[in-house]
Amino acid sequence: MMKVTNNIISPAGHISDLLPDQNKPRVYIETYGCQMNVADSEIVLSILVENGYSVSHDPKQADIILINTCSIRQKAEQKVFKRLDVFSRIRKNNPGILVGVIGCMAERHKEQLVNNFQVVDLVIGPDAYRKLPDLIKEAGTGQKAVNVLLSHEETYADISPVRMDKNRVSAFISIMRGCNNMCTYCVVPYTRGRERSLDPKIILREVDNLTRLGYKEVTLIGQNVDSYRWKPKEKDIEISFSGLLEKVAEAVPEMRIRFSTSHPKDLPDKVLSVMSRYNNICKHIHLPLQSGSSRILGLMYRGYTREWYIERIKAIKKTLPGCSISTDIITGFCSETEEEHKETLSLMEWAGFDFAYMFKYSERPGTKAAKKLNDDVPEEVKSRRLTEIIELQNKLSQRAKTKDINRVYEVLVEGISKKSENDLFGRTSQNKVVVFPGKNYKPGDIVKVRINDCTSATLLGEPV
Ligand code: 5AD
Ligand code: SF4
Repeated sequence: MMKVTNNIISPAGHISDLLPDQNKPRVYIETYGCQMNVADSEIVLSILVENGYSVSHDPKQADIILINTCSIRQKAEQKVFKRLDVFSRIRKNNPGILVGVIGCMAERHKEQLVNNFQVVDLVIGPDAYRKLPDLIKEAGTGQKAVNVLLSHEETYADISPVRMDKNRVSAFISIMRGCNNMCTYCVVPYTRGRERSLDPKIILREVDNLTRLGYKEVTLIGQNVDSYRWKPKEKDIEISFSGLLEKVAEAVPEMRIRFSTSHPKDLPDKVLSVMSRYNNICKHIHLPLQSGSSRILGLMYRGYTREWYIERIKAIKKTLPGCSISTDIITGFCSETEEEHKETLSLMEWAGFDFAYMFKYSERPGTKAAKKLNDDVPEEVKSRRLTEIIELQNKLSQRAKTKDINRVYEVLVEGISKKSENDLFGRTSQNKVVVFPGKNYKPGDIVKVRINDCTSATLLGEPV
């Protein structure tokens, strides 16, 4: 396992190298939610393996089942409650299994989970994972073990994650935790606490680790990467996200670098300029719009207007021609009118997003919107607006893909296509998935592919 000891880091490795070991308690982790949660599960596994646990790939064979949860929308939470029923049945046949709920739902539903779910033995929030080994011992004595304290400092900087990705090509590094933005709809500041950034030295060491493990791509992740800040004790100058990005790009010129998520109010020209100067920084920006109406953006406390967002897109298109842009959209936020919904559609059309995650507004108890605004857009109106948004986005994605026909892209191969064993799939710098016949290539290779067709979700091509 990797630990920073005398400044030396040894690689933590990959989950598939950790075989179930009969002599050690076996842990099974299931992960829901965002990339931050995936990164957290990798930290959790690292902590447990370091403390003498082994890994199980099947909950029925495990001694401990952990479910890393998401609270962002009600649907995400419902899914987890259903999984707890399944784990409850598994436990009936094997009463020795311990079940833990970790992550965002642990933070929000501590009481409910402890009091109403007999199957739950552990409830652990995102800043308490170091305590897991002790808490598991406590739960082993028959007591429910709970720790949902949020921290101003915890970054797990000294713990190298056990990688859990499928292909060993692309990995995440979490460069910051928490969020200070307080968007009125959002539960994240309550489940993940205040912002904290990691020392660039630690990030660079982890990047180096990944290169030694054979990875070809790294995504720097945080709830809002543009608020990344690090001030070395000995110096006055602060390192911002653009500074970090430049350091990473220079340190590993052979590796592809991505990042997510940017915030429209904070995305600076400096980041765009660093992106333009380094070939190995991928030309894709995820820039959540949420709404095309300035009034709704105001109610959401997003800190920008429709005009500001348009200006940021113009800046991206000017500095980074050919850069792809994806977004998140919430439809049916409190008091959204038909005209305001149309403003979202028209902005989508103008921006021509390559990809979008689209959601109906889901009120989250405890948030500012839940306390102060009325969730008054009827369900059927939300559904209809969402359908319109999805249909428009399908058209825009299709239009963008059609433009790619006859272009040649460098594709980083990630694996074998789900649909055909003779085809490989990978991604372009712009994060577009490409499928192509490729018996002579393997995951991790970069292949030049000419695009000749497309389906609704992928580009199809031939190596050139
Ligand atoms: N309802 C619907 N969607 C939400 N998101 C965040 N909170 C909510 C909510 N309460 C969406 C936003 C965010 C993405 C990760 O999830 O679009 O960018
Ligand atoms: Fe879900 Fe937000 Fe928690 Fe990620 S941070 S798991 S999106 S609630």
